[in-house]
Amino acid sequence: AVSVEFLKELPKCEHHLHLEGTLEPDLLFPLAKRNGIELPAEFPQSVEELAAKYSQFRDLQDFLDYYYIGTNVLVKEEDFFDLAWAYFTKVAKQGLVHAEVFFDPQSHTSRGVPIAVVTRGFSKACERAQNELGISTELIMCLLRHVEPEKCLETIQEATPFLKDGTISGLGLDSAEKPFPPELFIECYEAATKINPDLKLTAHAGEEGSSAYVVNSLDLLQVTRIDHGINSQHDEELMARLSRERIMLTMCPLSNVKLQVVSAVGELPFQRFLDADIPFSVNSDDPAYFGGYILENYIALSESFPHWDHQTWGKIVKNSIEGSWCDAKRKQQLL
Ligand code: HPA
Ligand code: ZN
Repeated sequence: AVSVEFLKELPKCEHHLHLEGTLEPDLLFPLAKRNGIELPAEFPQSVEELAAKYSQFRDLQDFLDYYYIGTNVLVKEEDFFDLAWAYFTKVAKQGLVHAEVFFDPQSHTSRGVPIAVVTRGFSKACERAQNELGISTELIMCLLRHVEPEKCLETIQEATPFLKDGTISGLGLDSAEKPFPPELFIECYEAATKINPDLKLTAHAGEEGSSAYVVNSLDLLQVTRIDHGINSQHDEELMARLSRERIMLTMCPLSNVKLQVVSAVGELPFQRFLDADIPFSVNSDDPAYFGGYILENYIALSESFPHWDHQTWGKIVKNSIEGSWCDAKRKQQLL
């Protein structure tokens, strides 16, 4: 296998990172205290207990139940800033050069935290990452698929100023996948695109849902990439299309193991995707919950696919730069 030093030096891009998923237990409890937030009685009450819970989740929903409770401790603009800034400083040391990060405005607006407070806190951290760490960034708002589409339309209206001025440059779709297929959100994607025709589009699909969720996200939501997309492996025609149309899958190996999508990283279809020339990137999803940031995901992958040489890794990194949403000039710098 290649060395950890080699993996660290690669110019890595992250495209699948939920900022709320970077909330480490040792920040969660102090923030709860600072903001006077009482956690539910059944929620672990110490850093140790919470860290133990994070060692394994039953499935996506089991994780989401914890994730949304954790999110409640974020209230003030500085909380959002601190959270994102802690992430950027951590991954700057791991060789991250470009980050396209997700956030869930509805997890906060549903508790009375204004979308402007959330967006400003996160975008200020993005700006500082650019200026002080040289990490280029894109901020992507995700709609929660368990929220009714009419409510999601309201969220898009509330986000209008940030969609218009480019503070938010992308739209995604996350949360419980199977009960909420992509076709429910057609109008939402259309409405957001109407506000800013340059808005970049993605959606979680094919993590627990079938390959049809991937196809429908592409055809009905007009997304240009897919988050996870693992179940694309069961549809040969789709596989050919992903390669032909250069649709990048934003893969998250440690997440898939922690949520028991697979029992080991080696079971994921990375080799098949490489052989089929399907572009993918390697990401951490919710690193505070899944036991690793971007470098740990690269390392886990390298340990599971030890025959990948420098050339193979070079191709993975090149694909992930080319699949990024930064402009051509920045891509040229990164290549
Ligand atoms: N899937 C769906 N929703 C999520 C995820 C995920 O991996 N992470 C945070 N919200
Ligand atoms: Zn995700």
